Amino acid sequence: MNLTFEEQKMLDGAYGKSVQKSMEILTSLGDIYGAERMIPIKSVHMPGSSIVVAGEAATSFVEQMGENGTEFAAYTTLNTGAMDMDCPRELGFSEETIARQKRLTGAYGRMGGVPCHTCTPYLIGHCPKFGEHVAWGESSAIAFVNSVIGARTNREGGPAALAAAIAGRVPAYGYHLDENRRGQFLIHVETALSDIAGYGALGYWVGTRVESGVPVFTGIPADVTTDQLKALGAALASSGAVALFHIVGVTPEAPTLEAAFGGASPKEVWHVGRAELQTAFQTLSKQQGQPVSLVALGCPHSSLSEIMQVASMVEGKRVKTAFWMLCAQPVKYLAERSGHKKILEDAGVTLVCDTCPVLGAMAEPMEKTGMTAMATNSAKLAHYAPGQWKIPTYYGTTEQCVNAALKGVFA
Ligand code: F3S
Repeated sequence: MNLTFEEQKMLDGAYGKSVQKSMEILTSLGDIYGAERMIPIKSVHMPGSSIVVAGEAATSFVEQMGENGTEFAAYTTLNTGAMDMDCPRELGFSEETIARQKRLTGAYGRMGGVPCHTCTPYLIGHCPKFGEHVAWGESSAIAFVNSVIGARTNREGGPAALAAAIAGRVPAYGYHLDENRRGQFLIHVETALSDIAGYGALGYWVGTRVESGVPVFTGIPADVTTDQLKALGAALASSGAVALFHIVGVTPEAPTLEAAFGGASPKEVWHVGRAELQTAFQTLSKQQGQPVSLVALGCPHSSLSEIMQVASMVEGKRVKTAFWMLCAQPVKYLAERSGHKKILEDAGVTLVCDTCPVLGAMAEPMEKTGMTAMATNSAKLAHYAPGQWKIPTYYGTTEQCVNAALKGVFA
């Protein structure tokens, strides 16, 4: 790689061991992927912020990198953690788990990491500008920031994101370059998608076919909501490994079909109608009419508008199941100020922050509360939960999930 004078000094150790180690990681990555230079970055969203994915060795590595006063060179937020940091004991987490997560969060925090522990940092102020280079982890957030915002990131893993945060740069390859951001697959959506579960089903169906390619959608209305886009991106990144998608007339790099493909032709063309969506729903939720013990919404973490929607559905009622709505702490704070948290709590719905059933140490609260089956409106959660928790998972619209909570049965 061609390094600047400053970057060479960083690599030679002039700024300490952590910066040197970070540059070693980044230049190695650059060599592997054929990068010619480094690019300065504006921000990092840190994967590996939960002890479920960052074990003892990774926690020690983060602690070591933070020794001797190392500070992040780029604004850095922390992804979802293992527990709700405000009330871990109430949800049933053990003292050992609490202590381990606090060690990891503290190590990032000492370097300047913002301990927001959410997968939707873009909903709480970490929102890059179009075209900015960033280094983000967390597949759903990567898909959103690349596609909806038009910032540029690769799918960063834990060590690379940590190195990028410390060095303030990444090697220039992959989605940082124009030529890799062009569409590859054309998807004509030929059915209406109302609820976010419909967008999740669409993403799930397409993700299995395009894998890590760049799909371009037509037929999605211009008034598609932010919540629907985050559901689509999360699902694309779950059944596939999609980091970037375009929607003609909606996302910023696709004002026209031609612009989305950069003038090239699609590799393949798919048509998605009711039958294809039905297939996705059936794959994610094989049975109906089954008892449910947990309803979990907010994967990716809920916006305030999603919380308000559920509050309006449960107001004055009482759910029969455990009901978690996952969100970031600032969103919970707004829900409290707006009165929606009280409505949810009166109905038996808990706003759970900082964590989720996939990246959380949820075995502990799940075992303590005897949870046996889950319903969700998230294709990502429905994809991962059955394998992780070995419990049946039912996938449906927000209305179906709320009804499941009220009746104790998914139908
Ligand atoms: Fe977020 Fe956890 Fe879902 S990190 S996207 S709530 S699996």
